[in-house]
Amino acid sequence: MKLKRENREVTLIVEMETDRLYLREFQEDDWGAVHKYASLEQVSRNQPWGPNTIEETKAFVEEALADSKKTPRTRYIFAIVLKEHQELIGAVEINIRSTANKSGEIGYIVNPDYWGKGVATEAASMMIDFGFNELGLHRIYATCAPENEGSQKVLEKLGMRFEGRMRDHILLKEGCRDSNLFSILAEDK
Ligand SMILES: CC(C)(COP(=O)(O)OP(=O)(O)OC[C@H]1O[C@@H](n2cnc3c(N)ncnc32)[C@H](O)[C@@H]1OP(=O)(O)O)[C@@H](O)C(=O)NCCC(=O)NCCS
Repeated sequence: MKLKRENREVTLIVEMETDRLYLREFQEDDWGAVHKYASLEQVSRNQPWGPNTIEETKAFVEEALADSKKTPRTRYIFAIVLKEHQELIGAVEINIRSTANKSGEIGYIVNPDYWGKGVATEAASMMIDFGFNELGLHRIYATCAPENEGSQKVLEKLGMRFEGRMRDHILLKEGCRDSNLFSILAEDK
């Protein structure tokens, strides 16, 4: 992974890349590419949001921009861009959950046109490296719906360990659902 940091006035611009992907800060006009997947039921299944209206997707992008400008910054959310077509195909993020305990949480989402190609694993792997090496975290965790086989596989491929099942962790429109909890420690790398 290559990392580029740029301090433009107050905003810290961070970019990361692999051979086929790069991660960059969100821009206001990204909402159209985000809406292509955030408006789909299969993408927001088991999630407390979506399928998004246009207004909800625009609000998501605005919140990502606002969070990237906060000081201290605790949310690092990036657009996943396919280098070949310069196309935004998803989002990945790491949130600092406790500065005192040096812990953070990752999350990711990929446009279904690109599922099963290793994109989520590759992007989330950059987030884990960023969390340990740049943010100085000690523990990084993630949760997913027990039914979300794809997400669970991504977490296992990242070398994260299953820690247990959290009961009624997330409140959805249909009622509460459980979550599986996974983590990786700096020393596991
Ligand atoms: C979960 C998600 C991010 C996976 O993205 P992806 O780019 O397809 O994941 P990867 O290609 O890196 O997959 C990693 C592994 O999981 C497997 N996998 C992916 N989706 C799968 C599915 N639905 N069922 C079973 N296995 C799946 C892949 O085949 C791959 O395994 P392999 O290397 O042995 O072939 C994507 O399906 C998605 O965006 N879902 C909706 C949002 C979501 O659930 N986000 C996570 C919230 S916790």
